[in-house]
Amino acid sequence: MTISEATSQLGRMPVNPIFNPEGNDDPNHRTIWFGDTTNLMQLNDVRYDWAVGLYRQMRENFWISEKLDITQDVTDYVNLTPDERRAFDGVLSYLTFLDSVQTVNLPQLKVSITAPEVSMCMAEQISQEALHNQSYQYMIETIVPSDRRSAVYDFWRTDKVLHDRCEFIAKQYQRYVDDPTLENYFGSLMADYLLESLYFYNGFIFFYNLASRMLMPGSADIFKMINRDELSHVRLFQKLLPEAMEVFPHSKDMIYEMFDTAVKHECKWTNHIVGNNILGITETSTEQYTKYLANMRLRAIGLKPLYTEPRYLKSPYTHLERFSDTKAEGHTKANFFEAQVTSYVMSSGVGGWDEI
Ligand SMILES: [Fe+2]
Ligand SMILES: [Fe+2]
Repeated sequence: MTISEATSQLGRMPVNPIFNPEGNDDPNHRTIWFGDTTNLMQLNDVRYDWAVGLYRQMRENFWISEKLDITQDVTDYVNLTPDERRAFDGVLSYLTFLDSVQTVNLPQLKVSITAPEVSMCMAEQISQEALHNQSYQYMIETIVPSDRRSAVYDFWRTDKVLHDRCEFIAKQYQRYVDDPTLENYFGSLMADYLLESLYFYNGFIFFYNLASRMLMPGSADIFKMINRDELSHVRLFQKLLPEAMEVFPHSKDMIYEMFDTAVKHECKWTNHIVGNNILGITETSTEQYTKYLANMRLRAIGLKPLYTEPRYLKSPYTHLERFSDTKAEGHTKANFFEAQVTSYVMSSGVGGWDEI
């Protein structure tokens, strides 16, 4: 019996040894979890070809935030309405939390993955989440006046709604760390999928909406790059979850309940920080968009939509999609007000992005 089999029989999630010389790296013997790898990155012959393509795409997405020009945003910020400025600060603070918690949690999930090609994608994902945090810092230090910066970093400390939201999200991850059962590992995977595929998007929309009104174009350019990265993470989890549903104990009811709670919390937070006070966004459009996204994310992992009314089957923000530029092939080619291609055209066109 392997270490992995022994631990999983106890109902505990096995953690990979650093080196397992008795392991078997044959691709036919490989599984994403509960495998028996040596832990050498044997990549010449893999079982999960999609992971190799995804990793290449993630690397091709490489970008540096300081190369994006955000000077117009410095003057725009001062001219935003007080509600827009509060939303800018709050959304940035929330997104900083999300990317921070990802860099802490993803390693917890990664140590149990036994297919090196999949583990490699998660390593790149962790690196990208750190890059996102660094880009928020670049925005805050450049755009936000110095006397206001700490308030942005500390927004979660002073705003009770955000504080409670952060605690809820962190607790879903902490449950597995405190009690590493197979059920809790699956719960942590699903919580990650909700974060990657649902929690970022009302924030992205807020920035694309400002850009559509010719405001804060540099910030929107940065969010386009982050958005593109996040979609690669969504794609990773859309591969992992159907597989996880085959091997981990779980219930469909639990998944639907997690989605419904996530939608409620996301709407509550977005209404609190954006609400009806920003031109182009209303509490109704937030609800419609969040439920539309949840339906789409459920379908992508082979489950039925949760919100069946026709209005929840389409996005209220299709007019902003040209700003996100994540439909087509997932490439971000130009900044908002230029037709020229920026220095970030690096993709050789890995296919399969249309569904996200
Ligand atoms: Fe991120
Ligand atoms: Fe992510």
